[in-house]
Amino acid sequence: MSVHDDKTLIERALKAREKSYCPYSQYAVGACVECEDGSLYDGCNIENASYGATNCAERTAVFKAVSEGHKKITAIAIAGGRKGETPESYAYPCGICRQVLSEFGSDDLLILVAVSAEKYERKTLSELLPNRFGPDNL
Ligand code: THU
Repeated sequence: MSVHDDKTLIERALKAREKSYCPYSQYAVGACVECEDGSLYDGCNIENASYGATNCAERTAVFKAVSEGHKKITAIAIAGGRKGETPESYAYPCGICRQVLSEFGSDDLLILVAVSAEKYERKTLSELLPNRFGPDNL
């Protein structure tokens, strides 16, 4: 269950995309994470000349939330596409980001993958990461 409406989260993700640092891929991603208490944290992808040091938008947003003391995430909106252009297709979170979301979210964590505030898909973590290995396994 999310606190904010889909549109609020998606519009913030689209805005966060504008801050993307992606000189190598030219692929800009923005994300907005909602925490249990309704607080929101935005993030963008941050690339590096040593490509492997790149951080995805989703993880930037999650790490910002966690470093501010939030350990339970209830929703995330994600938007990605060619830098400077309107997104054309859905940017589903990569495997590493799905695993990081799993650490701080329940099976029903809402994942909004958006092209715009009008065109988006609504998924849950269990749909994108079934049979996950999570904190409950240890
Ligand atoms: N990227 C994300 O920000 N999130 C994802 O889930 C997949 C990929 C970024 C990383 C890199 O800066 C660019 O998109 C191209 O892979």
